[in-house]
Amino acid sequence: MTEPRWWQEAVFYQVYPRSFARDLAGIRRRLDHLQWLGVGAIWICPFYPSPQADFGYDVADYTDVDPEFGTLDDFDGLVGDAHARGIRVIVDWVPNHTSDQHPWFVESRSSRESAKRDWYVWRDSRAGGPPNNWRAAFGGRAWTFDAATSQWYLHLFLPQQPDVNWRNPELAAAMHGVLRFWLDRGVDGFRIDVVQGIAKPPDLPDDPPGTVLPRASFNDHPDAHPILRHLRTLVDAYPQEPVMVGEVYLLSTEQVADYLGRGDELHLSFDFTSLYAPWDAAAWRTVVERVERELGAIGAWPTWTLSNHDNPRHRTRYGGGEARARAAAVLLLTLRGTPFLYQGEELGLQDAVVPPEQEVDPGGRDPCRAPIPWDGSPAHGWEHEEEWLPWPPDADVANPEVERADPGSMLNLYQRALAARRASPALRRGSARVLPSPAGVLAYERVAADGGDRRVVLVNFAAQRACVDLDGDWTVEVATDRAWEGAPFDGELEADAALVLRP
Ligand code: GLC
Repeated sequence: MTEPRWWQEAVFYQVYPRSFARDLAGIRRRLDHLQWLGVGAIWICPFYPSPQADFGYDVADYTDVDPEFGTLDDFDGLVGDAHARGIRVIVDWVPNHTSDQHPWFVESRSSRESAKRDWYVWRDSRAGGPPNNWRAAFGGRAWTFDAATSQWYLHLFLPQQPDVNWRNPELAAAMHGVLRFWLDRGVDGFRIDVVQGIAKPPDLPDDPPGTVLPRASFNDHPDAHPILRHLRTLVDAYPQEPVMVGEVYLLSTEQVADYLGRGDELHLSFDFTSLYAPWDAAAWRTVVERVERELGAIGAWPTWTLSNHDNPRHRTRYGGGEARARAAAVLLLTLRGTPFLYQGEELGLQDAVVPPEQEVDPGGRDPCRAPIPWDGSPAHGWEHEEEWLPWPPDADVANPEVERADPGSMLNLYQRALAARRASPALRRGSARVLPSPAGVLAYERVAADGGDRRVVLVNFAAQRACVDLDGDWTVEVATDRAWEGAPFDGELEADAALVLRP
């Protein structure tokens, strides 16, 4: 058996800098929290110079830090401190588009003869209108007319986010240089934005009427694969074994698996079918079995995510209060694959209520991006009592200061589940098999390759107690209610409860 790679065993934690601790120095000051929690890696969302039209996903310079977030020295300091604590660092790389303020685009836009004209996607009008009928992700058409040069440029997102043209070899080389810049600084890899969109069909065909994302024809073009294979070769040449984890927003496990290639494209790809699954045992059973089938078949390693900076938090989405969010935590941290936590879920945070006059995001994603309350004081460990977005609900108690002191808290449950995972080869890298179980319950067994370590996980999605028959004697190792831990499993599973059992 090949040795597991670090990114298969680590639990990742997504940091959205502006809301985690304002800037890079702030993140550095909060590393204690992450080390205590036990995560193995952090993914830092964009901190590059940017006009912030899409909160950093509109990059104006790929190889620097926005003054709002600090300096390259701050970045180096953060990476050094994180590494000293055994925490790897990956950064967000946005290869599909730049900011319209990026010097590449400024030059591209300056004239039709510009040497960088072809670095972006420019087209003439068709019948006096845009080149095709594509729609942008945040609404409106995906084309903006540039009056000075009488052509349209493509943007799958905001008009301030022009799409680059990966078919141009100079653009590709410049992007490769960006990856080398960060790898040379010691980063452990990249979260790659909008992977499914980087290769547009060359003839830019109209979408059939009624097309909805992610089915648009600009997504999932096969020419993305050679681009990824090239990136993989570049990245694999570095000694730190960098990981490339792609946002492959296609909502199909089968299609997402395609981006892993034959082990020569992405190392990991986000499969958002889990994020989109309702809190329902049958729905989750389908997701888990499909992942095992599709990824197992090609020997690939899954990822699991319940929340991120683009979607309502799962606690809010599922409803059902903290009990369900606790069961979801046990599920997320015990499935076969690499879990990605979104900052604040370990505190059981809910979405903030953002009044219309405080909305700032063009995509309506403010509620999940509320700042993390670090303590119960009025400014919650931040500079101001009012930060860029309102606090999430219950910030006076849903914060690390209060929760660390309470052994029964959500935070302590995450910490225990992470510790159990680190200590168990079965949970870290064992096989996964769904077991028969009563309706409303998902049960699965994890077994280490040598058969020596085993765990059974039971998750009750229902609001009623369930009875589960298991062969053999089992002890509760981790439970949504700490009081059950250490006791023999008696066959009964409380409503909304989840258990990790050891023989
Ligand atoms: C990804 C990011 C999202 C961003 C978009 C455009 O989906 O996660 O936040 O708005 O790409 O870059």
